[in-house]
Amino acid sequence: MEKRKVPPLPPGPLPIPLIGNIRGVDINAPWLAYTEWGKQYGDIVYSSLFGQHIIVINSEKVAIELLEKRSYNYSDRPDLPTNALFGFGFNTILMRYGARWRRQRGIFHQAFRAEAALCYRPMQRRKAEQLIRDMLDAPEKFLNHVHVFSSSVIMSASYDYETKHDDPLVKLIGKSLRLAVQELRPEVATVFNAFPILLRLPAWFPGMSLKKKAIQSREWLGEWMHDPFQYVLERTAEGKAQSSMVSNALRRIGGKETSDEITTIKESAATAFGAASETTDLILQVFILAMVLFPEVQVKARTLIDAVVGASRLPTFEDRSSLQYIDAILRETLRWHPILPLSIPHASVDSDVYEGYYIPKGAVVVPNVWAMSQNEQKYPNPSQFSPERFLDADGNLNDDTVNMAFGFGRRICVGRHFGDASLWIAISSLLTVFTFSKRIGADGEVIDFEPRWSSGIAIHPLPYPCSITPRLRKVT
Ligand code: HEM
Repeated sequence: MEKRKVPPLPPGPLPIPLIGNIRGVDINAPWLAYTEWGKQYGDIVYSSLFGQHIIVINSEKVAIELLEKRSYNYSDRPDLPTNALFGFGFNTILMRYGARWRRQRGIFHQAFRAEAALCYRPMQRRKAEQLIRDMLDAPEKFLNHVHVFSSSVIMSASYDYETKHDDPLVKLIGKSLRLAVQELRPEVATVFNAFPILLRLPAWFPGMSLKKKAIQSREWLGEWMHDPFQYVLERTAEGKAQSSMVSNALRRIGGKETSDEITTIKESAATAFGAASETTDLILQVFILAMVLFPEVQVKARTLIDAVVGASRLPTFEDRSSLQYIDAILRETLRWHPILPLSIPHASVDSDVYEGYYIPKGAVVVPNVWAMSQNEQKYPNPSQFSPERFLDADGNLNDDTVNMAFGFGRRICVGRHFGDASLWIAISSLLTVFTFSKRIGADGEVIDFEPRWSSGIAIHPLPYPCSITPRLRKVT
């Protein structure tokens, strides 16, 4: 009988035998090499690392074709041993496709789908006002204020927990997340996948510092998962629990809860904090950097805000439709420097054939959002921060909502409506009250700088000199 021919793998760089494609890939910024490969080999590129198949998607078109139109086959996540090692086995974002993921996703959907997300707006506005007060008090601590804002909106939505200054819980979760974002890279995990024996070496063994960090991570995560959940249980027992993701989910299961259901709620809420606080925080950091580097955008935004809102109050969500330029700034912030340049990797459930290329079962499928957002055909002069890309000739928003920043298909970000509202209210409030600029040195000259970026799954600008000065001292 004639043997059926397997189609070729997508094109890609030549691998080093047994190791794969590490040559020319900067482990701290692999999206740059992947984007170069895209220019050479096309929108879909095959590479491998220690035997793991990696499919890099360099265009929105292919991402939609595979991750959305064939989502039945591309909604899994790679099974990375470092996730469980670090105690992140519970996390909705990193979880394999299946019943446990579906249950958690259901809890998220109830709390954060488009209509449900509207109920958090008064709280988001209140937190934005607090952000402005904190910035007015100590503008030089802006990174801390942005972090507190981002953490407190989600702590309120998930647990109805009001964060305090220097909140121990926020600090705990923050350091735990920073560790995870640094270490849980698929490129690192692949090494452990290929050599599982490494996972059995003790933490003191040379080169096994990762294992030491993992022990610390698991300890922190235990507290992160338990403490705020316990807070809701106590408030419920006292009859004081207000509406939140956790209290509403507990109410829905009523008296018939099983330990499985409790665990699902607990795990979803713990995921929410990490997913929401880190992304919101990093995007606001990118926004402030962009304002410092592109002052003309602030001038335009302020002229509009002054005309629509005036100089005595902060914008509200009711002003949003009259402030379309602010939405364009938000979209351009997501595009200009995506904080998740390689999104979150998907994985194929089964083998597949796309455009004549073979995609193996279990391949790690990496949406290269960096390449998509820097696509010169779609976004000419991509390093320029230009909100006008998202406006038509009449100043109205166009159809490009930069969806790629929130992922694709069945795994698309389930908190995107809530996240979008937090970002909009923070950005519009900050633009109303402050001017962001480069710092002036002792010699009276502007201090110029080249932005530098952190590494990891989620990235942010490294510290740079800037000045944040209030335009308005008092707003209601
Ligand atoms: C504010 C900006 C945010 C950005 C840019 C962002 C981005 C993303 C991206 C790229 C993914 C992966 C999608 C994929 O695999 O295709 C994701 C997943 C996820 N996000 Fe967000 N996110 C944001 C805010 C939030 C918020 C506020 C929440 C919670 C309220 C949240 C909860 C989640 C969850 C639970 C997942 C996992 C979905 C799944 O695997 O099924 N995110 N997000």
